[in-house]
Amino acid sequence: MKYPIPPGVFDIIPDNSQDKWKSSYLWDHVEQIIRETAIDYGYQEIRTPLFERTELFQRSVGESTDIVSKEMYTFDDKGGRSLSLRPEGTAPVIRSFIENNMANTSPVTKLFYIAPMFRYERAQAGRYRQHHQFGTEVIGNSSPEQDAELIDLLYTLYHRLGLRNLTLYINSIGDAASRLAFRTALKDYLQPHLKDLSEDSQNRFENNPLRILDSKDPNDQKIVANAPVILDFLSPEDKDHFESVKFYLHLLDIPYKVNPLLVRGLDYYNKTVFEVVAGELGAQNSIGGGGRYDGLVHNLGGPDLPSIGFGTGIERIIQTMINQNVTLPKQNHPTIFLIALGDDSKNVCFRLLHDLRKNGVPAQMDFSNRKLGKIMQYADQLQATYVAVIGDQEIANKEVELKEMATGRKIKISLPHMSDILRLDHKSDSFLKNWHELLVPFHGNEEAQFFLDKLKNTLEQTKQMTEKFHESIEKMKKKVEN
Ligand code: HAM
Repeated sequence: MKYPIPPGVFDIIPDNSQDKWKSSYLWDHVEQIIRETAIDYGYQEIRTPLFERTELFQRSVGESTDIVSKEMYTFDDKGGRSLSLRPEGTAPVIRSFIENNMANTSPVTKLFYIAPMFRYERAQAGRYRQHHQFGTEVIGNSSPEQDAELIDLLYTLYHRLGLRNLTLYINSIGDAASRLAFRTALKDYLQPHLKDLSEDSQNRFENNPLRILDSKDPNDQKIVANAPVILDFLSPEDKDHFESVKFYLHLLDIPYKVNPLLVRGLDYYNKTVFEVVAGELGAQNSIGGGGRYDGLVHNLGGPDLPSIGFGTGIERIIQTMINQNVTLPKQNHPTIFLIALGDDSKNVCFRLLHDLRKNGVPAQMDFSNRKLGKIMQYADQLQATYVAVIGDQEIANKEVELKEMATGRKIKISLPHMSDILRLDHKSDSFLKNWHELLVPFHGNEEAQFFLDKLKNTLEQTKQMTEKFHESIEKMKKKVEN
């Protein structure tokens, strides 16, 4: 290959049979559920540019963090500005929040994004140089319910996607004063062990000693096991906040484990931090993480507003779905595949193809001059619901035979009405799918009566619609007979 893809990045193609998680129909499915869930929780979408001024990340994520010191794609533009591809989503969202005066619009702003992030990391399974995050940021609320709501959203998303066996780790890293006191105590404890720590941890000792706590090195982990614990350094107010977050998680039946070693790798965090881990992911097992960052908006020049957010990697979500054998959605397939026999029929089919699609019926046709058998094979591969072979005879008789591919059943329909008939067929399929959802029973509480009445009403309307529907079918029949 003359121009291979750079290391650490990947293509998402329609159906990747070798690496299933790189199939675009799975990405579409996950992104659709993400959007639905975010909207159910009252979050609105934000889109920011792929690059920002480098100082934005230096000031927010922190100069001593791995992300800023080692991993950013930084370049000078032709105007001599230092820009960086965004390595994470929080700083750009807060920049945009301030710049667009969003604080003036509403006391609490709840935003979400689905966006690529760029980090020059050591490429390995589960770690990419361009990865994609679903992230949320809530600006303007300091209450512990907000922390729990945010984690609840993340958990509902995982649940809707069919993920199981995830572990939520939570911790509180308190305010700046608590962290400073803890940092001194931690350094005092680590000093005698310094020479036994891994090279990475030795390098972190001066600038970022808290990161030594979540080192993956087994020897570091042994040393750190007896280190002082940040929870012992929290102010009474932060302790209360943390207790309340745990209370609300409990109330929402979200299981968690307190991990006093969890500090996260970005400087802007304070108080609650959390991470969700999926065992199946191997070394890179963090599927999502986040926390509070009450000082960031002010630090970037905005009003003093408390905030919290999370980011969850879409690659890791889809990989976990596959590892856990979650039932995956089916690829979209055409309702009808048209096969033209002869040149005249090709023109008729080509026009019909346009009418079907315009009418909202997913339709396909083969434009090549391949043999009928080959085209049939292709229609089968596309999993078309029906196939119609149209030649001179069908055009003369204005009638065509539809073959239902799954059953082999054949049905004759009027050619001029094909587009309308299939539109009905396609729409009634989606209609039935929606009705299936109504089979989920209510739990018998009084309020359900209100919804039952509404449902009765809808059924009554549906009955009336069905009568009208029958009338129009009769009309249609008469038309076909004439
Ligand atoms: P983060 O923990 O650096 O947090 O990233 C969030 C998630 O993105 C991780 O849990 C992981 O699933 C995924 N991820 C990160 N790096 C990679 C990579 N190189 N390859 C594949 N997946 C990756 C943040 O970025 C924060 N901005 C989250 C946040 C939002 N905190 C508050 N608001």
